[in-house]
Amino acid sequence: MNVGIIGAGYVGLVSGACFAELGHRVVCVDNDETKIKALKKLKVPIYEPGLTALVKKNVRRGRLTFTARILDAVKKAEVIFIAIGTPPKDNGEADLTGIESVARTIAKGMRSYRLIVEKSTVPVDTGRWVKHTVSINKRKGVTFDVASNPEFLREGQAINDFLHPDRIVIGVESARAQALLRKLYQGIDAPILATDIKSAELIKHASNSFLAIKISFINAVARVCELAGADVAQVARGVGQDRRVGPGFLEAGIGFGGFCLPKDLDAFVMIARKLGYDFDLLKEVKRINEAQKALFVKKIEDQLWNIKDKTICIWGLAFKPHTDDMRFAPSLDIIQALQAHGARIKAFDPEATAKAKRVLRNVTFCRDPYEAAAGSECVVILTQWPQFKELDFKRVKKLLRQPLVIDGRNMFTPSGMKRLGLRYVSIGRASA
Ligand code: UGA
Repeated sequence: MNVGIIGAGYVGLVSGACFAELGHRVVCVDNDETKIKALKKLKVPIYEPGLTALVKKNVRRGRLTFTARILDAVKKAEVIFIAIGTPPKDNGEADLTGIESVARTIAKGMRSYRLIVEKSTVPVDTGRWVKHTVSINKRKGVTFDVASNPEFLREGQAINDFLHPDRIVIGVESARAQALLRKLYQGIDAPILATDIKSAELIKHASNSFLAIKISFINAVARVCELAGADVAQVARGVGQDRRVGPGFLEAGIGFGGFCLPKDLDAFVMIARKLGYDFDLLKEVKRINEAQKALFVKKIEDQLWNIKDKTICIWGLAFKPHTDDMRFAPSLDIIQALQAHGARIKAFDPEATAKAKRVLRNVTFCRDPYEAAAGSECVVILTQWPQFKELDFKRVKKLLRQPLVIDGRNMFTPSGMKRLGLRYVSIGRASA
């Protein structure tokens, strides 16, 4: 099939490369000409494991092309995905002006039937507005459908999530649209849930909000564990083994970040409020998430007494491992709070340093974790990069001024760290 993807960001680029991998001919569009030029030279602007290889392979096969002109995609592709960003406005609502403008451009360029699919995370009712916008801008006699096909991929494992999803949700209002989307996803072995458009839009917000609820819940349980002398990792395992709960998203830590969960949570609260429901549960989820970062800073303070003029080594800056994404990373708030207390920061991240340099000031960025530890008071872990597990902690201990590791991601066991002669403070577990 011929597929057009408008927006070559995380979702657009991964979807484009994966649809090409499934055998379709895909045109990816982005209005950022520099990005398109780079992509044409096979330079992928984001760090996502496996993506560069998949892009290269499918460009060489002639199945994936890039352009800065929406009309190039509208001309060729029967199915056109809108996968552009919907950044939050000051009040937490998603900014949908980009979606409107893309819908208008598609409408003006259509010469025959097109299926226009929302893939960006958008508030319920956006489908109806897209349909309205296309209707008033299209040529007479040209028919079209609108559908919603929310994306559930996670950064860091996006390709696997796309090609092996738990489910594919398609919100459709015609048999033709449903048949086209089913055909498009034919190569993927996953149940397809066909719903109406509004329900599909809501599934995305409800899914991300539910994941956020799970994380804040386990972080609140972690606080009780600390007070009771229990171990949150063991509690999470016991709770998660109940299939009704499930084991995922029960890792206590410094709270959720990234460009999706925090933004979608705010947006869902706003959507509900606009519709007349005050979603207090989600507001509390957000409050717990914010408190988690402040609590972690207090933990560091409790260990170091005075933070002023002390050097703190940070391992991990990205909002989670296997990505270089710094958007809404908990590390930003934590580092800024430590700096406000007068701390000096030495930091190491295997992938996110370049992006971190753009948003963090007065941080000494190091080339490896040992360099960051050298002469620092303690190590603070903010992202659970697997390579941190392989480090020589005897060497780390020698490099530090105090044998102290404060772990915001519960990467290690307290007993293991104690055996190495390190004081170890983590989340929801007794310190060692
Ligand atoms: C999230 C959803 O998981 C995807 O399904 C969705 O498609 C995506 O948003 C989106 O809307 O585009 P992502 O933002 O890539 O994916 O990251 P997650 O893996 O969900 O992690 C979010 C945050 O929660 C990270 O900061 C992570 O460290 C934190 N987290 C996650 C925890 O603190 N504990 C956990 O148990 C799991």
